[in-house]
Amino acid sequence: MSLITEFYRMGTDPLSDDGAMSRAAAIIREGGLVGMPTETVYGLAASALDERAAEKVYAAKGRPSDNPLIVHVAYPEEAEEIAYTSDLFYALAKRFMPGPLTVILPKKSTVPAGVTGGLDTVAVRCPAHPVAHELIRRSGVPIAAPSANRSGSPSPTTAEHVLRDMDGRIEMILDGGPCEIGLESTVIRLTEDGCEILRPGAVTEFMLAEVAGSVSVAKAVIDPALAGDKPLSPGMKYKHYSPNADVVLVDGDDARFADYVRAHITDAEAVASADSSADHFNFCNRLSCGKTANADEASRALFSILREADDRGYTRLYIQLPPAEGRYLALYNRLIRAAGGRIVHIK
Ligand code: TXA
Ligand code: MG
Repeated sequence: MSLITEFYRMGTDPLSDDGAMSRAAAIIREGGLVGMPTETVYGLAASALDERAAEKVYAAKGRPSDNPLIVHVAYPEEAEEIAYTSDLFYALAKRFMPGPLTVILPKKSTVPAGVTGGLDTVAVRCPAHPVAHELIRRSGVPIAAPSANRSGSPSPTTAEHVLRDMDGRIEMILDGGPCEIGLESTVIRLTEDGCEILRPGAVTEFMLAEVAGSVSVAKAVIDPALAGDKPLSPGMKYKHYSPNADVVLVDGDDARFADYVRAHITDAEAVASADSSADHFNFCNRLSCGKTANADEASRALFSILREADDRGYTRLYIQLPPAEGRYLALYNRLIRAAGGRIVHIK
């Protein structure tokens, strides 16, 4: 069934777009789907209490239904409706919510099995974006939302990306402009003495350690091949974020990276680099990952660049491998997945 997808450009204050917000909330309550901006990436929003709405989400994404959805709440206390919380959950919530952190908790029976891929846990997140917050509040239900891309393509960081992937498949898209962070939230599970990072994001290991005591990083974060058949987080096992272009990750310093690109790149291919290093690549196609080389700008640009590479028909994209630590860990994790795990070492 093909739908007419309503596209609505929001102003800076969602409260002043009363009509669009009410319409979107009504769609959610009636079991429909809305593309909504969050501070990380755009989400495909549906009622988390409605199993049939969850089925529509999987169908619209073309996603295997054993990969569970994140449930979004307007305030951390609303987690009580869907999950068994703990002191550590509230300590983390006090510091990081609303914001880009998702916590896996034991689930209550209010959440249908179809939302959590049959797991007895549920992923809870409280987004900071004012439009997402207002949509959850007005809908009056917790909102299940995976990233609003077709399964296997890069996550959407603009409303135009959502329109490309979801036109005719969902009822409405709320355009809240480009996402500030650009990579999906940090996903953690709580352990006896702290937590484990299952998917790295803008809330880093170091930041979590200030609240959670002992923090570990799941091995599959650095090496997707280690996710195995029964990973802690089902999303770990899927090849993700893959553009059609072949992503070549080069592990080497700036000079060696530039030399490698110069020796290999063809006219049908492109390099991704910060504008500050544009001079090194004036002989080839280049996609910009921000003005200067830093983790925030590169994170914000990554998914757009992967989509742009395909739009321009580049067959291969050369990217310098960032360090697998700190604020670069999330970028590293998405890049090795986009590259299918292959890295060229030239140290
Ligand atoms: O930033 C984000 O988290 C975005 C925005 C829209 O909020 N959402 C997002 O959802 O990235 P999605 O569905 O694309 O990714 C959810 C990830 C998957 O890797 C999934 O396997 C994992 O979270 N996950 C969800 N529920 C889980 C659970 N109960 N146990 C373990 N992992 C879970
Ligand atoms: Mg996703």
